[in-house]
Amino acid sequence: MNPELAGKVAIVTGGASGIGRATVAGLLRHGAAVAVLDRDETGAKSAADEGRKTGGNALAYTIDLVDTKLIATTVERVIQQFGRIDILVNAAGVAGRFQTLVEQEESEWDFIHTINLKASMLMMKYVARHMIDRGGGGRIVNISSSSAFRARQSPIAYASSKAAIVQLTRSAAAELGKHDINVNAIAPGITATGMTRVLGDNEALQRVASAGPLENLFHRVSLPEDVAAVIVFLCLPGSRQITGQTLHTSAGAVI
Ligand SMILES: NC(=O)c1ccc[n+]([C@@H]2O[C@H](COP(=O)([O-])OP(=O)(O)OC[C@H]3O[C@@H](n4cnc5c(N)ncnc54)[C@H](O)[C@@H]3O)[C@@H](O)[C@H]2O)c1
Repeated sequence: MNPELAGKVAIVTGGASGIGRATVAGLLRHGAAVAVLDRDETGAKSAADEGRKTGGNALAYTIDLVDTKLIATTVERVIQQFGRIDILVNAAGVAGRFQTLVEQEESEWDFIHTINLKASMLMMKYVARHMIDRGGGGRIVNISSSSAFRARQSPIAYASSKAAIVQLTRSAAAELGKHDINVNAIAPGITATGMTRVLGDNEALQRVASAGPLENLFHRVSLPEDVAAVIVFLCLPGSRQITGQTLHTSAGAVI
């Protein structure tokens, strides 16, 4: 039987680590070829190498998304090397330093919004242009956060950038629907990745998931694979009627 994404090409930003890396593996398992974009050159290469070892087609691209002028040329390089792009997953993101409103530094605000929001928008812009020119539709998945839906758990800049992702997703879905391009987002809760390593080891994360502002209904920290499974679902033919949505993958932390 043919894998469902055979012949499709995906870009995954933030593919070197955590949720992005698990998404690279998931898309490869479904037969897609994957361009792994990340500022972490070693991590991106190892994610692509791992994929090729299991028979998949994956290449690493080193890009720091803060340098937004590199985005158009990197998308162009992927199109030249793979011939097309059918799927974009914007998984690169940063939490930044924990600053309250009254101590918020502008430079930190700009840094977080550049990576979490502006880079996602620009990736969508250049990939969507290609999808429209080529015809045949496409899938775009962005990553919001449970922080976008609750007010007392996260740095204000991070939460604000993730809330903006929800509307970016809705507006883009409305614009791109006529081109058969689905645009959705997911909103994870506490997930064991590079980003949450500052909170401690797996036991510490388990405690965070069990009590306090990040508690979820299962008292269980998500694994990157739990979140990636939903991202991959949003790229499969079976989800073709879903667009403009933000699916919560936070084990009921937000209902
Ligand atoms: N881990 C959580 O609890 C959690 C919860 C909600 C949402 N998220 C979101 O999930 C997404 C994935 O994060 P993760 O948890 O897997 O963390 P992670 O740190 O494991 O992965 C993030 C990846 O993004 C890359 N990245 C960061 N800045 C970049 C830049 N300027 N240019 C290129 N690449 C860059 C990193 O190198 C890394 O590989 C992020 O958008 C994050 O905000 C995470």
